[in-house]
This record gives sequence, structure tokens and C-alpha cells, in this order.
Amino acid sequence: MIVTDKIDEVRQHRWADPGLTWGFVPTMGYLHEGHLSLVQLALAGNERTAVSIYVNPTQFAPSEDLSSYPRNLVGDLAMLETAGVDLVFTPSDAIMYPPDFQTTVSLSRITQPLEGSSRPTHFAGVATIVTKLFNIVQPSRAYFGQKDVQQTVVLRQMVRDLNFNVEIVIGSTSREPDGLAMSSRNARLSETDRAAAAVLYRALSAAKAAYEAGEQSGSALRKLIVDMITAVPQAKIDYVSVADPNTLEELDVIADGMLLSTAVFFGKTRLIDNILIEATEDTE
Ligand code: PAF
Repeated sequence: MIVTDKIDEVRQHRWADPGLTWGFVPTMGYLHEGHLSLVQLALAGNERTAVSIYVNPTQFAPSEDLSSYPRNLVGDLAMLETAGVDLVFTPSDAIMYPPDFQTTVSLSRITQPLEGSSRPTHFAGVATIVTKLFNIVQPSRAYFGQKDVQQTVVLRQMVRDLNFNVEIVIGSTSREPDGLAMSSRNARLSETDRAAAAVLYRALSAAKAAYEAGEQSGSALRKLIVDMITAVPQAKIDYVSVADPNTLEELDVIADGMLLSTAVFFGKTRLIDNILIEATEDTE
């Protein structure tokens, strides 16, 4: 496995044989089973697989957890080597954001609700770094997790808008036995918060079950989720949303397809989760 922090070296390996397809999994490291499931998808769907490990400072607001974001490069590389990854790109801040860096990729409507309402600069940071990584690695396919659902919607939009020659593939959310979505941030939860955090998936699943039993009111489903989460004393809700899966606009009435999503603080740790109920017919 090649490990490099050099852009030229990545390109040299990527284009050594132009006929080969490359899968790419961008990550911020501290890898868990969720990342590895994306790596497995990339390995299965391409002739070569690249992973990047880079904690991107521009997607964290000054008040957020950049300095305390968990890191474990040695452990990450061991996992990727065992998995059979071909190349790992581990750039420094100086390489990704040299002192004269001036460009931002930002999207409008789609970045405003949900995560965007609490994290207004987050998606410009994500779109900018993913653009750079796509231009460096030039993959055939790139893999992202369903847990960060708005990120997947934003990046799909960006790829369409800017005509990137890359296929976006979304891997399903990996969960702990109690349903908690796997996340590098889970490592920072206290034991009691960790146990309490299972309420996210429980509440979203209850709303899904209510919808399947006939409840079509967006506000009723939001209230059901809010009530379940509020019943857990450690949980402090940032948002609860029942939205259109494509526009991310809140729904009054669910006709066909919806995205149930939530962000909740446990102490200083903010967790997100979602359940996507796809429309039965593609209306595009
Ligand atoms: O999902 C993540 O880990 C990050 O947002 C990404 C896509 C690697 C960009 O920094």
C-alpha cells in the first residue's frame, strides 16, 4: 500500500495505467466499521482503491471540535492495509491550504436547512475540500456514507452542477447493536451519554413505523421524534426534521418519500442520524 502526502505521487499512481478504474473513499480518519464498509464497496467495484485521511479545518466553525477531533493515523493505516487498499493520501494543511489559497466552492439552497442552519460554513468547507480531492485523485467512483445524508445530497448536486466526471456511491449507515450510527465522534461520549444516544435511532425508527402505519402528518412525526428524544435527560435537540429527500424542505404532508433526520447534543458532542424512506416512483 502506498502512503503519500504528495499530490504528484497520487496522480502518478492514479494514471500509471489509465485503463484501470479507481474507487475513492475520502475520510477524516479515526476509521471505524462504517468507513471500512465504504472501503469494501470501493474495493469490490473498482480495480484500484484510494482513501484520503485529512481532518479538513475549513468544514469546522471556530466553536467546533477541530482540535479535539479524534485521530489515529497508525491504526487507520493498519486497517486500510489489511483491507487491501492500494493508496492512501495523507496531506498536510500546508499542502491543502497554502498561504495564498483563495477559492471556495459553495452551494446555495441545499446547504441552508438542517446541518446548514446550525453550521452555516460547514458545506462550503466540505464542497471545497472534496473538489480538491476529486481533482487530485481523479477517481472513477467516490464513496460517501448515508449517515451524513445532507453531505451526500450536497455533493451529488455539486457533481451535477460542475460536471465532475465521477460517480457518487452512497453506502448504508453502519450501526452498533443498539442502533447508534457509527461515528468517530461516538468515542467522545461518556458511558451514560453513549447508552442514552441510542435514542436517536429509536426515535427515528418509531416515526418510520408510525408513517408505515398510516401517519402522514409531518408535524405529528416531528413531535413523535421530539417527544422521545426529550424524554432522555442527557439529550439536547439541535433539530428534528421530516423533509423532502431531494430539496430538504420540511414537509407538512408526506405523500411519497421522506427524510427523517435529527441532530442532538450529548454534552459537547453533537450526533446526527437519519432514515431515508425513498419515494416509490422516481418523479425526475
Ligand atoms: O465525511 C467526511 O468525513 C468529510 O466531510 C469528508 C467528505 C472527508 C470531507 O472532509
